[in-house]
Amino acid sequence: MNADNNKAKIAAPKGVPEYLPPVSAAWLAVKETLARQATLAGYGYIELPVFEETALFVRGVGESTDVVSKEMYTFTDRGGRSLTLRPEGTAGVMRSVIEHSLDRGQLPVKLWYAGPFFRAERPQHGRYRQLQQFGVEAIGSDDPALDAEVITMADNGYRELGLTGYRLEITSLGCGDCRPAYREKLVAFLEGLDLDDATRERARINPLRVLDDKRPEVIEQLADAPLMIDHLDEACAEHFGAVRALLDAAGTTYVVNPRMVRGLDYYTRTTFEFVHDGLGAQSGIGGGGRYDGLMSELGGQELSGIGFGLGLDRALLACQAEGLTPGPATALDVYVVPLGAARHRAALLVAELRRAGLRTDQGFGERGLKGAMKAADRSGAPLVVVIGERDLEAGVAQVKSMDTGDQVPVPLGELATYLTTLVSTSSTSEPMKEQKQ
Ligand code: HAM
Repeated sequence: MNADNNKAKIAAPKGVPEYLPPVSAAWLAVKETLARQATLAGYGYIELPVFEETALFVRGVGESTDVVSKEMYTFTDRGGRSLTLRPEGTAGVMRSVIEHSLDRGQLPVKLWYAGPFFRAERPQHGRYRQLQQFGVEAIGSDDPALDAEVITMADNGYRELGLTGYRLEITSLGCGDCRPAYREKLVAFLEGLDLDDATRERARINPLRVLDDKRPEVIEQLADAPLMIDHLDEACAEHFGAVRALLDAAGTTYVVNPRMVRGLDYYTRTTFEFVHDGLGAQSGIGGGGRYDGLMSELGGQELSGIGFGLGLDRALLACQAEGLTPGPATALDVYVVPLGAARHRAALLVAELRRAGLRTDQGFGERGLKGAMKAADRSGAPLVVVIGERDLEAGVAQVKSMDTGDQVPVPLGELATYLTTLVSTSSTSEPMKEQKQ
């Protein structure tokens, strides 16, 4: 602590969010609540490298996508290899599944992951350069029941957080058999429109993406554009119908958005997005879909898969927009205030309470009762244990409820049980959802 320190301070890189207490507790709860859905549905955890060979994303995600062509953090390592900080998770999971032959065992292979991804986007509220996702991938089955399972799992996760202000949009992007013919129809339609050069160029590279244009003059011209959903072949139409019926049966509410455009090239058939109205422009809180050609594109067998990525940063923003604070209401259950010579006994007590599963902190530094109680109050713990020399002689500690102000002496040997009972019967450590019921 040098008051004369004149060295320049260093700030976090632009567009990188940080989560500090107390908000970080809600952040962790969002991640854990969503990820629990994957464990409940039998998905195994996969921990993947944060950087991969650049070619993985170029081939897997698609060279013409914004993500690959404009947003990748690519660097050359000391061995001259081109590496890229992962912009998304699906390609890496697929690489790993192929490399470790997981697709030679029981199918579908069901995996989940969570962590940071990197996209050099223009930062704004809810759009970051380091973003975090929780994702799942289920590889090796094209059963529509798997589509319904994956979609419903995400929906359950959001509902478990208490979110209500979002909608699920779904569509089908067809397959390698029916999409080329539709694409030709769309290209022919777009050629007849009055579009600027840049949009014409986009129409040439990926005509589907033009459907996502947000400018009113373009939207107007696109009113009669042919839509993939009306040009699905029989197998794709049947598949989509089955997915819809299964979602209906599961009570998962959705709207069909035939103009949905995803930013990654690997999607086929079912694709979906969760859109939240409380987030402004960055309203996509999660999205995913099926990818029939990805495994073979990356050198593996011809197996279909489906998955999603849910933006954790945006899920937290959505909770905040709805006034929800996921996670425990307080960071602590108990705060111990040791006075004078009782400090040694108090240290043992703190250790004992933590072993009993109580979130416990204590006062540090020599302080009088008044200062120590102020620190106890600031800690937010609903229960404070004061232990002074006279208490020690009597074999007790004083337990104070910060809610009621009541104080009772409790024999030291019974403290852990006494406090545990109090904590489990009070709602202060319960997650938000339980409190609301
Ligand atoms: P994605 O739609 O690119 O899909 O990203 C998934 C989610 O990540 C988005 O819905 C959004 O919530 C969040 N996200 C994306 N970019 C940002 C950003 N710059 N800042 C904050 N949040 C962001 C994928 O990444 C696919 N891998 C999902 C998937 C898995 N599809 C099949 N399997």
